Amino acid sequence: MNQADLKSEIAARKTFAIISHPDAGKTTLTEKLLLFGGAIREAGSVKARKAERYATSDWMELERQRGISITSSALQFEYQGYVVNILDTPGHQDFSEDTYRTLTAADSAVMLIDAAKGVEAQTKKLFEVCRKRGIPIFTFINKFDRNAKDPLDLMDEVEKVLGIESFAMNWPIGMGQDFKGIYDRQTGQVERFMEGSARSSSIPPVSGPLSDPSVQEGIGETLVKQLTDEIELLDMAGNVFSQERVDRGEVTPVFFGSALNNFGVPNFLHYFLDLAPAPQPRSTNLGELDPETPSFSGYIFKIQANMNTQHRDRIAFIRICSGRYERGMNVIHTRSRRRLRLAQPQQLFAQERSILDEAYAGDIIGVHDSGLLRIGDVLTEKDGLQFEAMPFFSPENFARINIANALKRKQFIKGIQELQEEGAIHVFRDLHVGVEAPIIGVVGQLQFEVLEYRLREEYGVNVNIQHLPFEIVRWVKKDEKTIKLLSESSMSTVVVDKDDNYAVLLLDEWKANWLSDRYEIEFFLQPFDV
Ligand code: G4P
Repeated sequence: MNQADLKSEIAARKTFAIISHPDAGKTTLTEKLLLFGGAIREAGSVKARKAERYATSDWMELERQRGISITSSALQFEYQGYVVNILDTPGHQDFSEDTYRTLTAADSAVMLIDAAKGVEAQTKKLFEVCRKRGIPIFTFINKFDRNAKDPLDLMDEVEKVLGIESFAMNWPIGMGQDFKGIYDRQTGQVERFMEGSARSSSIPPVSGPLSDPSVQEGIGETLVKQLTDEIELLDMAGNVFSQERVDRGEVTPVFFGSALNNFGVPNFLHYFLDLAPAPQPRSTNLGELDPETPSFSGYIFKIQANMNTQHRDRIAFIRICSGRYERGMNVIHTRSRRRLRLAQPQQLFAQERSILDEAYAGDIIGVHDSGLLRIGDVLTEKDGLQFEAMPFFSPENFARINIANALKRKQFIKGIQELQEEGAIHVFRDLHVGVEAPIIGVVGQLQFEVLEYRLREEYGVNVNIQHLPFEIVRWVKKDEKTIKLLSESSMSTVVVDKDDNYAVLLLDEWKANWLSDRYEIEFFLQPFDV
């Protein structure tokens, strides 16, 4: 392939994640985006889609029970000459580790806000991660068909709570029962809202320029006056908008709508695709890596076992950072320095998989993994290449996991090993107990439930979870005197991690500081190999 073609393929890619608090409407918005992109033929109700999804994978039953989204996947569709990759990130706070890693694969983020609730806790956390990465953030304020907070207050809340300037690309006209539509500030056009169920009504609302008397008539005098006043205010006192400021993450373009009613979604998509960045250069140990560099490179940001219970497979998700992938190509796995053939890469397409023949920087591909690959691993044609390290999250909840039936020992060890490789759990072993009763560390409590569920459903193993009172883990040097001291202390438990690094589990920060001061022990926040 020549360089010009490679360049235009990559320039057409938009890879983003939707970040939101649970229930803001992420599933609904994703579905509508797929619908506009022609990736799905019918927008069933959100429920139908969710039900369908659960049916494809047993362990997602847990999601249904809890009403939350645990898995994350990447979906691709083409729209008006763009190739759009949506990274689906779970919204529940307990799954933040996985979410944070997924966000490293995005070039921009869409922050979805429930208009009645404003900026919620999880949105704030995820926003901060995106901010740290310096990626552009777009805002979609959803559910204007319901009673909402005042739009000016919402804009203000985004600025105050998140510390980013907001710029309204369109503006809502009324809300709830009186929601009339949106006003596009770039074109001066009004798009009239029509609730899904009101489609059969005899006189459809007229869309067109605000100056059009029939458009004004449909909106009503009071709302036209209010809209004109608010637009004037935004024009005069609003923030400065430019592509550069969006690129630098200084200002977030804000859109209003109702995902459930398909409303405002095409308007959003139109501007978003125009303004969102194509794949950007990545920092590496060999300097900035341009996505248009012809040689292929990418890294693994997620591993998931048993996505399809019938196949018992394990998929590693790769974010391509440069060049072009071709079916069957040979790459170097930099950690092991082994050559790997990427034989059957897959792409998740609305939960159905298809084999890929080619993919480009910006795309996400899934490859079968037999156990070699780990999160953060680099696959490349250029030996020695390394990307920035994956964020590391220290576990804060610990439990000893005991197998209920000793005959299942083999399956148990396999299950723990695979879930560890997915990055879902941290596995420790204490000095006096074998692998049968590991100590598991997780970031959020809910992960213990997922662990228990998955061990039972996917590996046929029942376990007992014995929660431990520790809240922090610190790594220590392998020094005999230190290990002896810590082993004898009643305040800590010495453990060994998966790579045989020594660590201590401690009740709290205070105890860690006390031990460290008293015995002059150096504690490390991360294992030495991350
Ligand atoms: P999530 O993935 O962010 O958790 O949210 P999801 O899309 O599942 O939406 C959460 C709820 O909000 C759903 O209602 C959904 O129908 C509703 N919703 C999404 N967008 C809009 C919107 O624009 N307007 C209104 N009024 N509601 C919206 P639910 O009652 O939990 O599910 P369902 O019974 O309606 O399927």
